[in-house]
Amino acid sequence: MKKLMAANWKMYKTWDEARDTAKAMVRLLANSMPKDREVLLIPPFTAIRGVYDAIRDAKGFYVGGQDFYPAAEGAYTGEISPGQLLDAGCCFALAGHSERRHVLGESSELVGKKVAFGLDSGLSMILCVGETVEERKEGKLTEVVLKQLRAGLNTAARGFDPEMLVVAYEPVWAIGTGLVAGPKEILEAHKLIRKELLAMFPDIGSEIRILYGGSVKADNCGEIIALDNVDGVLVGGASLKADSFSLIVTA
Ligand code: PGA
Repeated sequence: MKKLMAANWKMYKTWDEARDTAKAMVRLLANSMPKDREVLLIPPFTAIRGVYDAIRDAKGFYVGGQDFYPAAEGAYTGEISPGQLLDAGCCFALAGHSERRHVLGESSELVGKKVAFGLDSGLSMILCVGETVEERKEGKLTEVVLKQLRAGLNTAARGFDPEMLVVAYEPVWAIGTGLVAGPKEILEAHKLIRKELLAMFPDIGSEIRILYGGSVKADNCGEIIALDNVDGVLVGGASLKADSFSLIVTA
């Protein structure tokens, strides 16, 4: 299974900046992209098409959306549909990123609807899960992660290709803080997620990729990516510059 190296650009970059960063990444990785890796760029909606045009001929590069509303079309002012993401060149989308759960108040139930609807629409889905610092201190890692996983995946129709589902473990206390989870913490959470995926999807649970996210940088990525059950990374801050993200992809 190929490792997925995903760049979440959040609410950063204009069309030109996003396109230029994508072009620079393609150039920097032209001769050094490891065969067992895939690069996924997740720009803001307005820059998706520019990024798609920059990477469309580059092998192993994909574009994703940061979110969508789970309906084909309709009177949902301010929202965007899976079909519109596909039309703009996306093949992946995030659901349940901690900023959507904790800053924008998105419920696990809505996240589950998005995962199910996205898969039905033909998007590969990245379900993000992770505990807050308070939940970790209260010993609730297992409870929180399993609850988010089950609510996120229970309504998804079975029978999809294992490559179409990805789970990202992102402890909220490690996102954008410079605090990285240690190997022991990552191993524990990823093992828990793998066990639950095997229980939910006995046929394909071993092939569903599990990413780690939270302050990943070029100098810690090599160690993280070598851990058991770590099948890629989801990177925010350190993915904004082409040179630092290229070093992560090749770490
Ligand atoms: P970070 O963000 O790498 O800046 O911690 C990760 C994420 O939000 O996906």
